[in-house]
Amino acid sequence: MTHPALPKLSRQEKARLVSGADLWHTESVEHAGVDGATLTDGPHGLRLQDASQDHLGVYGSRPATAFPTATALGSSWDPGLLAEVGEALGREARDQGVDILLGPGVNMKRSPLCGRNFEYFSEDPLHAGVLGSAWVAGLQSKGVGASLKHFAANNQETERMRVSAEVDERTLREIYLPAFERVVTTAQPATVMCSYNRINGVFAAENSWLLTDVLRTEWGFGGYVVSDWGAVHDPARALAAGLDLEMPSSGERSPALIVSAIEAGNLPEETLDRAVGRILTTHDRLRAARTPLDPVDWDAHHALARRAAAASAVLLENRDGFLPLDPADGNTIAVIGEFARIARFQGAGSSHVNATRVEDALTEMRTIAQRDLEFEPGFATDGSAQPELHDAAVRLAARAEAVVLFLGLPAADESEGFDREHLDLPAAQLALFDAVIAVNPRVAVVLSNGGAVRLDRVAGRSRALIEMWLGGQAAGGAAADLLFGRAAPEGRLAETIPVRLEETPAYINWPGTRDRVHYGERIYIGYRWYDKVSREVTYPFGHGLGYTSFAYSDLRVEVPDAQTPAATVRFTVTNTGDRAGADVPQVYVEDVVSSVDRPIRELKGFAKVRLEPGESVDVEVALDERAFAFWSDGAWRAEAGDFRIWVGASSRDLRLDATITLDLPYAAGDLTIESTIGEWFAHPAGAPLAMGALSALGGEGGGVDLTQGELFKMIAQLPLPRIFDLTGRDGQVEVRGLLAALD
Ligand code: BGC
Repeated sequence: MTHPALPKLSRQEKARLVSGADLWHTESVEHAGVDGATLTDGPHGLRLQDASQDHLGVYGSRPATAFPTATALGSSWDPGLLAEVGEALGREARDQGVDILLGPGVNMKRSPLCGRNFEYFSEDPLHAGVLGSAWVAGLQSKGVGASLKHFAANNQETERMRVSAEVDERTLREIYLPAFERVVTTAQPATVMCSYNRINGVFAAENSWLLTDVLRTEWGFGGYVVSDWGAVHDPARALAAGLDLEMPSSGERSPALIVSAIEAGNLPEETLDRAVGRILTTHDRLRAARTPLDPVDWDAHHALARRAAAASAVLLENRDGFLPLDPADGNTIAVIGEFARIARFQGAGSSHVNATRVEDALTEMRTIAQRDLEFEPGFATDGSAQPELHDAAVRLAARAEAVVLFLGLPAADESEGFDREHLDLPAAQLALFDAVIAVNPRVAVVLSNGGAVRLDRVAGRSRALIEMWLGGQAAGGAAADLLFGRAAPEGRLAETIPVRLEETPAYINWPGTRDRVHYGERIYIGYRWYDKVSREVTYPFGHGLGYTSFAYSDLRVEVPDAQTPAATVRFTVTNTGDRAGADVPQVYVEDVVSSVDRPIRELKGFAKVRLEPGESVDVEVALDERAFAFWSDGAWRAEAGDFRIWVGASSRDLRLDATITLDLPYAAGDLTIESTIGEWFAHPAGAPLAMGALSALGGEGGGVDLTQGELFKMIAQLPLPRIFDLTGRDGQVEVRGLLAALD
């Protein structure tokens, strides 16, 4: 339906409407009743700047709540929490007159080196899609639009403005697109932001396969596509491909190019009208859905940020129940590490927020504990060696009853705009860790970093290890809550912690050349890779402890109809410890026999459950076709056969399993005139036909059984017609006969 403003707009005005008014606004056209909209970053808090300011977070913005970053929130595995944070962001956005918040980012963590990994949820598309959907639903429930970014295959910062992600379609469909697909189809984000990079040679902003065929035709996207800031090269070509709004304004350039493309007959006016219509309709819908809101309760948002940071923390180790510490014990705790005093809670670049307030862990620990807490910085936050600080910290550790050591990445190590070069904590911090452990084994380490760090030197040596990620403005308070048991850790890793960089999936293909990066590891990123190549990892995907323990039992997998790829998985989770706590049981699916290479097993469902001591709950996870299917020749395809369903506490702590058999119907076109003997034999309907034909041939050739053993192995890769040709028959005619018998 045509938007009512369209007939009132001149071509020039329409061209201006698809080009942005400045850095953060779209154009207004008063006589046509068009009000401009405000778009701003996102995604961890509001970053509202004046129009004259930059988009990379270099200059200040209005104060707003800095919630935990996506890498932290992703570790909560808690869609309910993500929805709450989304709602709070929506309230702050409404308060500041913002229409579209630029987030969430659901790109996959292909390599731990990506400088923006702290802005992304996961190495797994199902996980990122579920959490991203919840965030979008929460935000949009307040009448503020989301901008799902960066679409697509934007998995590195190096050369992000021009590199071409060279990635096959199966890999795109199974790994890099599903999180976007899930958010689009389940949460209907108002906008999708296309990325800077090329995909297989074509800029995302000009990629009609991506922006039109996949996003709109297949997934039914009904909002508008906005460019990443400065991602448009040829505005007419971008419009034709399905981009709607170029941001920020390019001044007179883009409107002029669009008008002249129409005048020259190179761009249909309807294409421009379509983009204008989508932008205005989306803004109208958002505004119409708004209900009055109470003023923002900044204290409540800060409290939510603290709760969310605690829920996102991952307790990697806790030997002998070292944590929580007793807040009333009379002995001294040594608090060591400058990050206890100067919190590292967010990353740099466009997501940088001017926090309403910042809690440091040291102050918050002092508020909670009635114990003697002594502090030594131990190192400088820039990673430089400071021998005096080091020595003083070790002296303090030696005389304390317990040590809490705050380590982390220097802020300069991770940001939008560049990638990391290594996974290591600063040498000065590791040396301090060694020295502290040597004088006092009773150490809990608290980590602050946005991207994964190498932990093999720390693992197994401290009593406890908590990964706080970049936990937002209240991360310090959350750490104190966790350390003293006011909150229990309930996060689980949403990315594998590898032993060393050289073993990570994209290592030999990273970051590519100036103009192309080859996704040579294909579908094998994250745990899919480490499992496939049987690599040890320091901590696996999905791992995380709490202050209690859980048992899984009574797995039941129901397949209502074996000819339909769907199942319901049910099992019982019991809190077997003596404290209340939350758990994240995970369901993985393994395709036992497949005609193509597949990951050993993949996450296909999870639940977040909260249980009192001794309490049990039944968990139900529904598996649909996607849980069984792979992408093959332009479509999803689930093959007949056995599937093993695993329930685990991580990708490597699998505790229950059951096997189901799907008797899926034969798909037309599975076998062709070019199919090999092996493929015929692997096909349920084709096998008996091929077997009959080959037995007959073998018989003629002197009683040889071609269907088994070495002989079969030797001929399995021959196209079936060839074996007939070799025995003097017309293979084409024979095999066409078999194909006809299949139908
Ligand atoms: C980033 C986006 C951001 C935009 C606006 C770009 O450089 O890639 O994530 O939303 O700037 O600040």
